[in-house]
Amino acid sequence: MREKQPVILSVESSCDDTSAAVLRGLEVLSNVVCSQQIHEKFGGVVPELASRKHMANIVPTVITALTDANINLEDIDALAFTQGPGLLGSLLVGGNFIKGLSLGTNLKFLAVNHMHGHIMAHFLNQEKNPKFPFICLTVSGGHTQLVRVNASNEFEILGETIDDAAGEAFDKTAKILGLDYPGGPIIDELAKTGNPLKFSFTRPKVKPLHFSFSGLKTNVLQFLQREMKQNSNFISENINDICASVQHTIVAILLGELETACEKTGIMEVALAGGVSANSYLRDNFTSLALEKCWASHVPDFQYCTDNAAMIGASAYFKYLNGEFGTLTDKPNPRLQFIS
Ligand code: KG4
Ligand code: ZN
Repeated sequence: MREKQPVILSVESSCDDTSAAVLRGLEVLSNVVCSQQIHEKFGGVVPELASRKHMANIVPTVITALTDANINLEDIDALAFTQGPGLLGSLLVGGNFIKGLSLGTNLKFLAVNHMHGHIMAHFLNQEKNPKFPFICLTVSGGHTQLVRVNASNEFEILGETIDDAAGEAFDKTAKILGLDYPGGPIIDELAKTGNPLKFSFTRPKVKPLHFSFSGLKTNVLQFLQREMKQNSNFISENINDICASVQHTIVAILLGELETACEKTGIMEVALAGGVSANSYLRDNFTSLALEKCWASHVPDFQYCTDNAAMIGASAYFKYLNGEFGTLTDKPNPRLQFIS
Protein backbone atom coordinates (compact mmCIF):
# COMPACT_ATOMS: atom_id res chain seq x y z
CA MET A 1 0.00 0.00 0.00
CA ARG A 2 1.22 3.55 -0.78
CA GLU A 3 2.25 5.56 2.27
CA LYS A 4 0.26 8.69 3.06
CA GLN A 5 1.77 11.55 1.09
CA PRO A 6 2.50 14.85 2.89
CA VAL A 7 0.39 17.89 2.08
CA ILE A 8 2.66 20.94 1.66
CA LEU A 9 1.63 24.61 1.37
CA SER A 10 4.36 26.55 -0.46
CA VAL A 11 4.84 30.19 -1.39
CA GLU A 12 7.11 31.77 -3.99
CA SER A 13 7.90 35.50 -3.83
CA SER A 14 11.45 35.86 -5.14
CA CYS A 15 10.73 38.46 -7.83
CA ASP A 16 7.48 39.96 -9.10
CA ASP A 17 5.02 37.05 -8.92
CA THR A 18 3.23 36.21 -5.68
CA SER A 19 2.39 32.53 -5.82
CA ALA A 20 1.00 29.88 -3.46
CA ALA A 21 0.44 26.18 -4.07
CA VAL A 22 -0.82 23.11 -2.28
CA LEU A 23 0.71 19.74 -3.16
CA ARG A 24 -0.14 16.25 -1.94
CA GLY A 25 3.15 14.48 -2.51
CA LEU A 26 3.99 15.64 -6.05
CA GLU A 27 0.37 16.02 -7.10
CA VAL A 28 -0.56 19.68 -7.56
CA LEU A 29 -3.88 20.40 -5.81
CA SER A 30 -3.65 24.13 -6.54
CA ASN A 31 -1.15 26.61 -7.93
CA VAL A 32 -2.13 30.28 -7.85
CA VAL A 33 0.11 32.89 -9.49
CA CYS A 34 -0.67 36.56 -8.95
CA SER A 35 1.48 38.58 -11.38
CA GLN A 36 2.32 42.23 -10.82
CA GLN A 37 1.48 44.39 -13.84
CA ILE A 38 2.79 47.53 -12.10
CA HIS A 39 6.36 46.99 -13.41
CA GLU A 40 5.38 47.08 -17.10
CA LYS A 41 5.44 50.85 -17.37
CA PHE A 42 8.97 50.97 -15.86
CA GLY A 43 10.37 48.41 -18.34
CA GLY A 44 11.67 46.21 -15.51
CA VAL A 45 10.99 45.08 -11.94
CA VAL A 46 11.09 47.90 -9.35
CA PRO A 47 12.14 46.08 -6.13
CA GLU A 48 10.36 48.39 -3.65
CA LEU A 49 7.08 48.18 -5.60
CA ALA A 50 7.45 44.39 -5.86
CA SER A 51 7.74 44.00 -2.06
CA ARG A 52 4.73 46.25 -1.46
CA LYS A 53 2.64 44.25 -3.94
CA HIS A 54 3.73 40.98 -2.31
CA MET A 55 2.57 42.39 1.05
CA ALA A 56 -0.83 43.18 -0.43
CA ASN A 57 -1.15 39.89 -2.35
CA ILE A 58 0.29 37.19 -0.10
CA VAL A 59 -2.72 36.57 2.17
CA PRO A 60 -5.38 36.49 -0.59
CA THR A 61 -3.11 34.33 -2.77
CA VAL A 62 -2.60 31.76 0.00
CA ILE A 63 -6.31 31.73 0.85
CA THR A 64 -7.16 31.17 -2.84
CA ALA A 65 -4.64 28.31 -3.05
CA LEU A 66 -6.18 26.62 0.01
CA THR A 67 -9.71 27.14 -1.32
CA ASP A 68 -8.83 25.85 -4.83
CA ALA A 69 -7.24 22.76 -3.28
CA ASN A 70 -10.21 22.28 -0.96
CA ILE A 71 -7.76 21.97 1.93
CA ASN A 72 -7.92 23.46 5.45
CA LEU A 73 -4.87 24.55 7.38
CA GLU A 74 -5.42 21.54 9.68
CA ASP A 75 -4.83 19.21 6.69
CA ILE A 76 -1.38 20.68 5.98
CA ASP A 77 1.71 18.68 7.02
CA ALA A 78 4.42 21.25 6.26
CA LEU A 79 5.04 24.73 4.87
CA ALA A 80 7.64 25.97 2.37
CA PHE A 81 9.04 29.24 1.05
CA THR A 82 11.70 30.43 -1.40
CA GLN A 83 14.81 31.36 0.56
CA GLY A 84 16.69 32.78 -2.46
CA PRO A 85 18.12 33.80 -4.82
CA GLY A 86 15.92 36.81 -5.59
CA LEU A 87 15.10 40.34 -4.43
CA LEU A 88 15.59 40.73 -0.67
CA GLY A 89 12.39 42.68 0.01
CA SER A 90 10.34 40.21 -2.03
CA LEU A 91 11.92 37.15 -0.38
CA LEU A 92 11.33 38.63 3.08
CA VAL A 93 7.58 38.81 2.50
CA GLY A 94 7.18 35.12 1.62
CA GLY A 95 9.73 33.93 4.18
CA ASN A 96 8.32 35.92 7.08
CA PHE A 97 4.76 34.96 6.16
CA ILE A 98 5.64 31.25 6.30
CA LYS A 99 7.67 31.62 9.49
CA GLY A 100 4.74 33.45 11.13
CA LEU A 101 2.33 30.76 9.98
CA SER A 102 4.70 28.12 11.29
CA LEU A 103 4.82 29.79 14.72
CA GLY A 104 1.03 30.07 14.78
CA THR A 105 0.35 26.48 13.67
CA ASN A 106 3.41 24.59 14.94
CA LEU A 107 3.94 23.27 11.43
CA LYS A 108 7.52 22.64 10.28
CA PHE A 109 8.78 24.47 7.21
CA LEU A 110 11.26 23.95 4.38
CA ALA A 111 13.44 26.73 2.95
CA VAL A 112 13.85 26.13 -0.78
CA ASN A 113 16.42 27.33 -3.32
CA HIS A 114 14.52 28.92 -6.22
CA MET A 115 16.83 27.38 -8.85
CA HIS A 116 16.38 23.89 -7.39
CA GLY A 117 12.64 24.59 -7.61
CA HIS A 118 12.85 25.29 -11.35
CA ILE A 119 14.57 21.93 -11.87
CA MET A 120 12.25 19.99 -9.57
CA ALA A 121 9.24 21.29 -11.54
CA HIS A 122 9.95 18.29 -13.78
CA PHE A 123 8.63 15.96 -11.12
CA LEU A 124 5.17 17.61 -10.89
CA ASN A 125 2.38 15.40 -12.16
CA GLN A 126 4.65 13.99 -14.84
CA GLU A 127 4.15 10.51 -16.10
CA LYS A 128 7.68 10.51 -17.47
CA ASN A 129 10.04 12.02 -14.88
CA PRO A 130 13.71 12.51 -15.75
CA LYS A 131 15.95 9.70 -14.55
CA PHE A 132 19.05 10.51 -12.52
CA PRO A 133 21.61 11.57 -13.53
CA PHE A 134 20.31 14.14 -16.00
CA ILE A 135 21.55 17.44 -17.44
CA CYS A 136 19.25 20.42 -16.90
CA LEU A 137 19.58 23.65 -18.88
CA THR A 138 18.01 26.21 -16.54
CA VAL A 139 17.25 29.50 -18.27
CA SER A 140 15.49 32.28 -16.40
CA GLY A 141 15.47 36.04 -16.02
CA GLY A 142 18.34 35.95 -13.54
CA HIS A 143 20.22 32.72 -14.32
CA THR A 144 21.53 30.53 -17.12
CA GLN A 145 22.99 27.28 -15.82
CA LEU A 146 23.94 23.84 -17.03
CA VAL A 147 23.37 21.54 -14.07
CA ARG A 148 24.17 17.89 -13.62
CA VAL A 149 21.42 16.52 -11.36
CA ASN A 150 22.63 13.32 -9.69
CA ALA A 151 19.79 12.94 -7.18
CA SER A 152 16.91 15.00 -5.78
CA ASN A 153 19.38 16.71 -3.44
CA GLU A 154 22.62 16.41 -5.39
CA PHE A 155 23.28 19.11 -7.96
CA GLU A 156 26.48 20.11 -9.72
CA ILE A 157 26.84 23.28 -11.82
CA LEU A 158 28.77 22.42 -14.98
CA GLY A 159 28.67 25.95 -16.38
CA GLU A 160 26.77 29.23 -16.13
CA THR A 161 26.60 32.72 -17.53
CA ILE A 162 29.46 35.07 -16.78
CA ASP A 163 27.25 38.16 -17.23
CA ASP A 164 23.61 38.51 -18.39
CA ALA A 165 21.11 35.65 -18.21
CA ALA A 166 19.26 34.34 -21.29
CA GLY A 167 16.01 35.95 -20.06
CA GLU A 168 17.80 39.28 -19.72
CA ALA A 169 19.04 38.95 -23.31
CA PHE A 170 15.39 38.64 -24.42
CA ASP A 171 14.16 41.43 -22.14
CA LYS A 172 16.97 43.87 -22.99
CA THR A 173 16.56 43.26 -26.73
CA ALA A 174 12.84 43.91 -26.35
CA LYS A 175 13.58 47.18 -24.54
CA ILE A 176 15.92 48.30 -27.36
CA LEU A 177 13.13 47.49 -29.83
CA GLY A 178 10.64 49.55 -27.81
CA LEU A 179 8.59 46.51 -26.76
CA ASP A 180 6.92 46.06 -23.37
CA TYR A 181 8.28 44.26 -20.30
CA PRO A 182 8.77 41.32 -19.94
CA GLY A 183 9.95 41.13 -23.52
CA GLY A 184 10.65 37.39 -23.77
CA PRO A 185 7.08 36.27 -24.54
CA ILE A 186 6.57 39.24 -26.92
CA ILE A 187 9.71 38.39 -28.92
CA ASP A 188 8.58 34.74 -28.99
CA GLU A 189 5.25 35.79 -30.53
CA LEU A 190 6.66 38.30 -33.04
CA ALA A 191 9.39 35.84 -34.11
CA LYS A 192 6.80 33.29 -35.22
CA THR A 193 6.35 35.07 -38.57
CA GLY A 194 9.97 36.17 -38.93
CA ASN A 195 13.02 34.71 -40.69
CA PRO A 196 15.49 33.45 -38.05
CA LEU A 197 18.39 33.56 -40.53
CA LYS A 198 17.75 37.06 -41.91
CA PHE A 199 20.26 38.87 -39.67
CA SER A 200 23.26 37.38 -37.93
CA PHE A 201 24.62 38.41 -34.56
CA THR A 202 27.86 37.68 -32.75
CA ARG A 203 28.34 34.54 -30.69
CA PRO A 204 30.33 34.92 -27.46
CA LYS A 205 33.79 33.45 -26.99
CA VAL A 206 33.74 31.94 -23.51
CA LYS A 207 35.06 28.70 -22.07
CA PRO A 208 33.03 25.58 -22.85
CA LEU A 209 29.78 25.10 -20.90
CA HIS A 210 29.68 28.80 -19.96
CA PHE A 211 27.53 31.55 -21.45
CA SER A 212 27.74 35.29 -22.06
CA PHE A 213 24.89 37.44 -23.36
CA SER A 214 25.95 41.02 -22.65
CA GLY A 215 27.84 41.28 -25.98
CA LEU A 216 24.73 40.26 -27.91
CA LYS A 217 22.77 43.17 -26.43
CA THR A 218 25.49 45.65 -27.53
CA ASN A 219 25.68 43.98 -30.94
CA VAL A 220 21.91 44.32 -31.45
CA LEU A 221 21.99 47.96 -30.31
CA GLN A 222 24.85 48.91 -32.66
CA PHE A 223 23.29 47.00 -35.56
CA LEU A 224 19.98 48.84 -35.12
CA GLN A 225 21.67 52.25 -34.76
CA ARG A 226 23.53 51.62 -38.02
CA GLU A 227 20.42 50.49 -39.89
CA MET A 228 18.25 53.30 -38.51
CA LYS A 229 20.69 55.87 -39.95
CA GLN A 230 19.82 54.55 -43.45
CA ASN A 231 16.14 53.93 -42.78
CA SER A 232 14.34 55.40 -39.77
CA ASN A 233 11.55 52.82 -40.17
CA PHE A 234 13.98 49.88 -40.09
CA ILE A 235 12.68 48.47 -36.78
CA SER A 236 8.99 48.64 -37.61
CA GLU A 237 9.55 47.27 -41.14
CA ASN A 238 11.69 44.34 -39.91
CA ILE A 239 10.44 43.67 -36.39
CA ASN A 240 9.52 40.02 -37.00
CA ASP A 241 12.83 39.18 -38.69
CA ILE A 242 14.85 41.01 -36.02
CA CYS A 243 13.03 39.13 -33.21
CA ALA A 244 13.39 35.79 -35.01
CA SER A 245 17.11 36.36 -35.68
CA VAL A 246 17.96 37.43 -32.12
CA GLN A 247 15.92 34.54 -30.72
CA HIS A 248 17.71 32.14 -33.10
CA THR A 249 21.10 33.39 -31.85
CA ILE A 250 20.15 32.97 -28.16
CA VAL A 251 18.73 29.49 -28.73
CA ALA A 252 21.75 28.39 -30.82
CA ILE A 253 24.11 29.52 -28.03
CA LEU A 254 22.08 27.67 -25.37
CA LEU A 255 21.70 24.42 -27.28
CA GLY A 256 25.33 24.47 -28.45
CA GLU A 257 26.55 24.36 -24.85
CA LEU A 258 23.93 21.78 -23.88
CA GLU A 259 25.29 19.54 -26.64
CA THR A 260 28.85 20.01 -25.30
CA ALA A 261 27.66 19.13 -21.76
CA CYS A 262 26.12 15.88 -22.99
CA GLU A 263 29.24 15.01 -25.01
CA LYS A 264 31.54 15.67 -22.05
CA THR A 265 29.48 13.77 -19.48
CA GLY A 266 28.08 11.04 -21.72
CA ILE A 267 24.65 11.71 -20.16
CA MET A 268 21.74 11.33 -22.58
CA GLU A 269 18.89 12.35 -20.25
CA VAL A 270 18.27 16.10 -20.69
CA ALA A 271 15.83 18.68 -19.34
CA LEU A 272 14.92 22.34 -19.86
CA ALA A 273 13.78 24.58 -16.98
CA GLY A 274 13.14 28.23 -16.02
CA GLY A 275 11.04 31.02 -17.49
CA VAL A 276 12.80 31.00 -20.89
CA SER A 277 11.89 27.32 -21.31
CA ALA A 278 8.41 28.65 -22.12
CA ASN A 279 9.93 29.92 -25.41
CA SER A 280 8.39 28.02 -28.32
CA TYR A 281 11.47 28.19 -30.57
CA LEU A 282 13.70 26.88 -27.77
CA ARG A 283 11.24 24.09 -26.93
CA ASP A 284 10.94 23.03 -30.59
CA ASN A 285 14.67 23.09 -31.29
CA PHE A 286 15.46 21.35 -27.99
CA THR A 287 13.05 18.55 -28.87
CA SER A 288 14.43 18.20 -32.44
CA LEU A 289 18.02 18.15 -31.18
CA ALA A 290 17.10 15.50 -28.60
CA LEU A 291 15.55 13.35 -31.36
CA GLU A 292 18.64 13.74 -33.53
CA LYS A 293 20.97 12.86 -30.62
CA CYS A 294 18.71 10.08 -29.21
CA TRP A 295 18.47 11.90 -25.86
CA ALA A 296 15.54 11.30 -23.51
CA SER A 297 14.26 14.90 -23.28
CA HIS A 298 12.04 16.64 -20.74
CA VAL A 299 10.27 19.98 -21.09
CA PRO A 300 8.21 21.17 -18.10
CA ASP A 301 4.48 21.76 -18.44
CA PHE A 302 3.99 25.31 -19.66
CA GLN A 303 2.49 26.57 -16.37
CA TYR A 304 5.54 25.36 -14.41
CA CYS A 305 8.17 27.12 -16.58
CA THR A 306 7.86 30.67 -15.24
CA ASP A 307 7.94 31.37 -11.50
CA ASN A 308 5.29 29.48 -9.53
CA ALA A 309 4.89 28.02 -6.03
CA ALA A 310 4.20 24.44 -7.22
CA MET A 311 7.86 24.06 -8.21
CA ILE A 312 8.88 25.26 -4.73
CA GLY A 313 6.48 22.64 -3.31
CA ALA A 314 8.13 19.94 -5.44
CA SER A 315 11.59 20.78 -4.13
CA ALA A 316 10.17 21.04 -0.59
CA TYR A 317 8.65 17.57 -0.95
CA PHE A 318 12.09 16.00 -1.54
CA LYS A 319 13.53 17.99 1.39
CA TYR A 320 10.62 16.80 3.55
CA LEU A 321 11.44 13.17 2.72
CA ASN A 322 15.06 13.82 3.71
CA GLY A 323 14.00 15.60 6.93
CA GLU A 324 15.76 18.82 5.85
CA PHE A 325 13.52 21.19 7.82
CA GLY A 326 14.28 24.89 8.23
CA THR A 327 14.76 26.92 11.38
CA LEU A 328 13.76 30.47 12.27
CA THR A 329 17.38 31.54 11.70
CA ASP A 330 17.20 30.59 7.98
CA LYS A 331 17.29 34.09 6.53
CA PRO A 332 16.08 34.97 3.03
CA ASN A 333 19.24 35.28 0.95
CA PRO A 334 19.26 37.25 -2.35
CA ARG A 335 22.49 35.52 -3.37
CA LEU A 336 21.74 32.07 -2.06
CA GLN A 337 24.33 29.73 -3.51
CA PHE A 338 23.18 26.84 -5.64
CA ILE A 339 25.01 24.34 -3.46
CA SER A 340 25.06 25.24 0.22
O1 KG4 B 1 12.00 31.91 -14.25
P1 KG4 B 1 11.34 33.23 -14.43
O2 KG4 B 1 9.84 33.29 -14.41
O3 KG4 B 1 11.83 34.26 -13.36
C1 KG4 B 1 13.15 34.27 -12.89
O4 KG4 B 1 13.47 33.43 -12.03
O5 KG4 B 1 13.92 35.10 -13.43
O6 KG4 B 1 11.89 33.81 -15.80
C2 KG4 B 1 11.49 35.06 -16.29
C3 KG4 B 1 12.16 35.27 -17.63
C4 KG4 B 1 11.97 36.67 -18.19
O7 KG4 B 1 13.23 37.15 -18.64
C5 KG4 B 1 11.01 36.45 -19.37
O8 KG4 B 1 11.18 37.38 -20.42
C6 KG4 B 1 11.42 35.06 -19.80
O9 KG4 B 1 11.62 34.36 -18.60
N1 KG4 B 1 10.36 34.41 -20.59
C7 KG4 B 1 10.50 34.14 -21.91
C8 KG4 B 1 9.26 33.57 -22.32
N2 KG4 B 1 8.41 33.52 -21.24
C9 KG4 B 1 9.12 34.03 -20.20
N3 KG4 B 1 11.54 34.33 -22.74
C10 KG4 B 1 11.37 33.95 -24.03
N4 KG4 B 1 10.22 33.42 -24.50
C11 KG4 B 1 9.16 33.21 -23.70
N5 KG4 B 1 8.03 32.67 -24.20
ZN1 ZN C 1 12.59 31.76 -11.67
